[in-house]
Amino acid sequence: MIGLQFLIAVSPKASTLKVLDPQSPQAHAIFHLAIVAGIIFAVIFAIVAGMIVYALMRCRWREGEGDPKQVAGNTTVEIVWTLIPCLIVVALFALTWQTMGASDPPPAPEPDIVITGHQWWWEAHYPKSGVVTANEIHIPAGRPFSIRLESADVLHEFWVPQLARKMTTVPGHPNHIWIESDHPGTFLGVCSEFCGTEHAWMHFLIVAETPEQFQAWEKAQLTPAAAPPNDSAARGLALFQQMSCMNCHAIDGTAAIAGVGPNLTHFGSRKILGAGVVDNTRENLRRWLTDPQEVKPGAKMPNFKFTDSQVTELTDYIETLQ
Ligand code: CUA
Repeated sequence: MIGLQFLIAVSPKASTLKVLDPQSPQAHAIFHLAIVAGIIFAVIFAIVAGMIVYALMRCRWREGEGDPKQVAGNTTVEIVWTLIPCLIVVALFALTWQTMGASDPPPAPEPDIVITGHQWWWEAHYPKSGVVTANEIHIPAGRPFSIRLESADVLHEFWVPQLARKMTTVPGHPNHIWIESDHPGTFLGVCSEFCGTEHAWMHFLIVAETPEQFQAWEKAQLTPAAAPPNDSAARGLALFQQMSCMNCHAIDGTAAIAGVGPNLTHFGSRKILGAGVVDNTRENLRRWLTDPQEVKPGAKMPNFKFTDSQVTELTDYIETLQ
């Protein structure tokens, strides 16, 4: 593997977006095409640049020289310089065709996940099990997983360079891709199409697990939210239901069922907050609840101007949602 990495974005989880480190058959196919095409382009560049430099040195006008012999045309040369580019284009087309077959097979009849881009976070719905989560998408390692991509508002682009091609999410027009990881691991994904103020903070994590871990995760996600473990958390839940939080968020097992913002049923088990803008820690959750706009300017969640004790109660509750 070449040691180069494009550091396009750095999340607080210290993950970097690795565009030259394929970890799935689909990403390997794209990577190999890029390398082969890059070599072909480099050779063409070297030949063309070499011939220009050679001509400049060898054929430049010298003192006492007359005009060179005038040439009107050369059929052989013209055929050769037409044929060679045609052959290169045909070869690149064949390689691209082959890569598309490997990296972008036809969609499955039923997707394993439906992922919806929102300004500025990702919703993941597993139709076969009913799991709904946000920004942290679990998949079983070692097998292709079919994704249907949708958008709730504008164009976004779903991209996990280590695992798959990129694909636009279009409102009203589902797209499909396959995603796969050769082995368990956590991979950073981003939105790669400008979609508004917080486009740059529309990160997500793909967590590839062994089939057993994945099943256990799905089972845990399907359990309703735990009851508040203490008085402060209970007051937090009451606040959550009174202060219009539930107009946007769902917490399974409570009266909150809205789907405008991320589902918070198991929020405490996620690693990132605000689609990657900060780590999911108690301190950052307090900052977020105190003023989301300070943490992520432009985020759709307004500042509710909670008092300090209200922030503590809400934090006490939401943190227990493991
Ligand atoms: Cu969503 Cu850029």
